[in-house]
Amino acid sequence: MAVFRGIFLGLVVVTLVFSATLSAAHLDGFNFGSGGSQTHDLFPQFYQSSCPQVNDIVISVLQRAIEKNPRVAAFLIRLHFHDCFAQGCDASVLLDNSTTRISEKGAKPNVNSLRGFEVIDEMKAKLEEACPLTVSCADIVALAARGSTVLSGGPDWVLPLGRRDSKTASFESSNRDIPAPLPDLSALITTFERQGLDETDLVALSGGHTIGFAKCSFVRQTRKSVCPRRGGDNTAAPLDFVSPTRFDNSYFKLILGGHGLLPSDQVLLTGNRRQAAELVKTYAANESLFFQQFAKSMVKMGNISPLTGFEGQVRKNCRRVN
Ligand code: HEM
Ligand SMILES: *[C@@H]1O[C@H](CO)[C@@H](O)[C@H](O)[C@H]1NC(C)=O
Ligand SMILES: *[C@@H]1O[C@H](CO)[C@@H](O)[C@H](O)[C@H]1NC(C)=O
Repeated sequence: MAVFRGIFLGLVVVTLVFSATLSAAHLDGFNFGSGGSQTHDLFPQFYQSSCPQVNDIVISVLQRAIEKNPRVAAFLIRLHFHDCFAQGCDASVLLDNSTTRISEKGAKPNVNSLRGFEVIDEMKAKLEEACPLTVSCADIVALAARGSTVLSGGPDWVLPLGRRDSKTASFESSNRDIPAPLPDLSALITTFERQGLDETDLVALSGGHTIGFAKCSFVRQTRKSVCPRRGGDNTAAPLDFVSPTRFDNSYFKLILGGHGLLPSDQVLLTGNRRQAAELVKTYAANESLFFQQFAKSMVKMGNISPLTGFEGQVRKNCRRVN
């Protein structure tokens, strides 16, 4: 035992020294060479010495916000998705209109629909007090999405950090790269593939619709008991009417029962793709398998084209560039 422990400790030390050397070399060589932009990997301990309380601060603001309005958890999970799909996970979605910029907030998938910005502002304000100019808005969004999942009863995961904030927004990318809720499975798959996400990621991440609401204009057909036959376009109907604030696998059970929520949800089962249909059944039967894959896919989504190193900036106010 003692021998094994000795070898194990030795390995740990060697690994630590090795990775410290690597990251030092990394920092020195970063972006000054002629080779153009070298990308840095995100890593979970990014704020370990610069802001160790980062997650605690995010969670305490989140807890209070959810107590006041249980819908906040869904807002923030969706916010991370819409940030990452438009121009990468760079907090571009948080930037307001300015004289030189058209905000993503007015893009079709977001306008009158994407919410939770004030909660991010509050987290940022608290973090600026505790660790000035240290924690990026893009990381706050990623942490808020994980926290929202956990506080709703869903899975937890180890979250790589170190994203930096963009100085630009892309109204066009939001309109082009965030999928529409249409019953076209191959279009959904293509939209995800463009982000480096596969069919398994599509099905698992669609499970994010286990919490939250959609406007009747999207779900009139499938939510006849809640949505009036005409009008009431902005009335909110629960996506998962069995447990609208609980992160569980009832989303997949509802699809199996033909109570798919958005047309883009039901089509995962009916869209003539064997793999997607099988996954819907698998996740409906086994919640822990869904949780495992959701966690993996969230990490993958959170890694879409981050800015790292000296790219971008750490914004002081998430709504504008410094
Ligand atoms: C697969 C493609 C997807 C489409 C077409 C889609 C579309 C939509 C639409 C149309 C709404 C309703 C918005 C409204 O009525 O204002 C919605 C809500 C929501 N989406 Fe998605 N979504 C997709 C994937 C995802 C992913 C990957 C996540 C996160 C992992 C996610 C999380 C949410 C959440 C939590 C809500 C509820 C928001 C609220 O309660 O306000 N969605 N989605
Ligand atoms: C931003 O400005 C554009 C162009 O003036 C406008 O169409 C859009 O509605 C504005 N967006 C928001 C979120 O106010
Ligand atoms: C559900 O999936 C887990 C893996 O997450 C596996 O260990 C377990 O055996 C599965 N349960 C059933 C009933 O298939």
